[in-house]
Amino acid sequence: HRNGLDFAVADLSLARAGRHQMRLAEHEMPGLMAVRREFAAAQPLRGARIAGSLHMTIQTAVLIETLVALGAEVRWVSCNIFSTQDEAAAAAVVGPTGTVDRPAGVPVFAWKGETLEDYWWCTTQLFDFGDSRGPNMIVDDGGDVTQLVHLGAEYEAAGAVPAPADGDHPEHRLLLQTLRAGLDADSKRFTRIVAQLRGVTEETTIGVTRLYRLAREGRLLFPAINVNDAVTKSKFDNKYGIRHSLADGLNRATDVMMGGKLAVVCGYGDVGKGAVEALRGQGARVVVTEIDPICALQAAMEGLQVVRLDDVVATGDIFITTTGGTDIITAEQMAGMKHNAIVGNVGHFDDEIDMAGLGRIPGIVRVEIKPQVHEWRFPDGHAVIVLSEGRLFNLGNATGHPSFVMSTSFTNQVIAQIELFTRPEAYDRRVHVLPKHLDEKVARLHLDALGVRLTTLTDRQADYLGIDAEGPYKPDHYRY
Ligand code: NAI
Repeated sequence: HRNGLDFAVADLSLARAGRHQMRLAEHEMPGLMAVRREFAAAQPLRGARIAGSLHMTIQTAVLIETLVALGAEVRWVSCNIFSTQDEAAAAAVVGPTGTVDRPAGVPVFAWKGETLEDYWWCTTQLFDFGDSRGPNMIVDDGGDVTQLVHLGAEYEAAGAVPAPADGDHPEHRLLLQTLRAGLDADSKRFTRIVAQLRGVTEETTIGVTRLYRLAREGRLLFPAINVNDAVTKSKFDNKYGIRHSLADGLNRATDVMMGGKLAVVCGYGDVGKGAVEALRGQGARVVVTEIDPICALQAAMEGLQVVRLDDVVATGDIFITTTGGTDIITAEQMAGMKHNAIVGNVGHFDDEIDMAGLGRIPGIVRVEIKPQVHEWRFPDGHAVIVLSEGRLFNLGNATGHPSFVMSTSFTNQVIAQIELFTRPEAYDRRVHVLPKHLDEKVARLHLDALGVRLTTLTDRQADYLGIDAEGPYKPDHYRY
């Protein structure tokens, strides 16, 4: 607590460094700044109490201050234990007008290198806006807050939290522990929170997958907007963002020469396509694995060899998982890799690489080269290098995507928050995507900065195509 603000960050004196970076980021985030100007007077988020869980980076600090500029009260955590930029967290707490002694920003609970216990502790700090008020909006990235609230409310209704099962992921065990402690302290906490919530806007592929599952099972407790599937999100951030931050993460972690190496990319979806471009751009020989015949054929058409992981385990130099799935690289496969092969994941959760299995290999030794870079030495003396303990290394070993592409994502986030908060009647308890005219608007806001001169349809051309000269320009089923 300082100056009436509660928070938990690594070092508030980093705020100045964070603020300098934010100023540069603001210049690279034209969409977000345009939305600030457009809605400054109207204050559409006045009355919104937003609980945000999204990588606490410099770009996210600019998002937070945009939400505040539109009238919202905000509390924030990171959605990953390694992804916080401590200077960004400090700057968000101090705020644009505060000082280290008198912080005047927002309560942030995030630091780089949290334990899993810290992570759930931070996440549970999201819900108390003072005077017994909970959040009425969620910004989620990966769906952990949405899951916490849903499970909390379900267990409160049932009056008990189930005991963890033997095969449960350690993270899930901790979540259950957190919920059990919460239920003992207050048996209706999440029930009250759910009653106040207007909805959630979800940032990423895996979080959206979880939302659709909740909806399918009839368990979704409030409306949701799927921000990820805005074209100006997943076809930009997931692809061009990773094209930038994947190479950045590899370089900062290992500084290994990518040119000439055999790089294996597991998954050729949006993130996989960006990963391949990054590695090819550095001169790596890239092969991919896929389960989906369409994505596999796309890869083949790009001249990429599509293989099974076992075909290349012994010859690959760099292995990257991008699937959002589980058990993609097993411990046995890692044991069969070349000496000093690099293994890294950029899918949202750490299930893609079997870290637990790696740790159970008899006689294996883990050596910390530096934080988030570990050499795992097998008993026969050869080793693999694992980045960010199997968690997303573009954020763990570097600072995530650059500002410009996060501007397209976060402009969608802000628009989605405004939509859901100001027009709750338009969004029922399902998973929605933003209408196409808003997607086109987000793109439009980023053209000037790049000197793009868009062609305008003449009336005759518009009539010929049967569309409005102002858009939308494509039907909803168009795939880009
Ligand atoms: P996507 O669904 O477009 O791509 C995933 C691809 O993996 C699909 O084509 C799927 O067929 C393939 N796949 C699934 N299981 C596989 C297996 N066992 N072997 C080989 N391929 C397999 O999803 P997207 O948008 O590319 O996202 C992937 C993951 O990355 C998600 O977890 C998402 O949340 C995360 N993400 C991470 C970012 C970062 O900054 N690190 C940024 C954006 C998304």
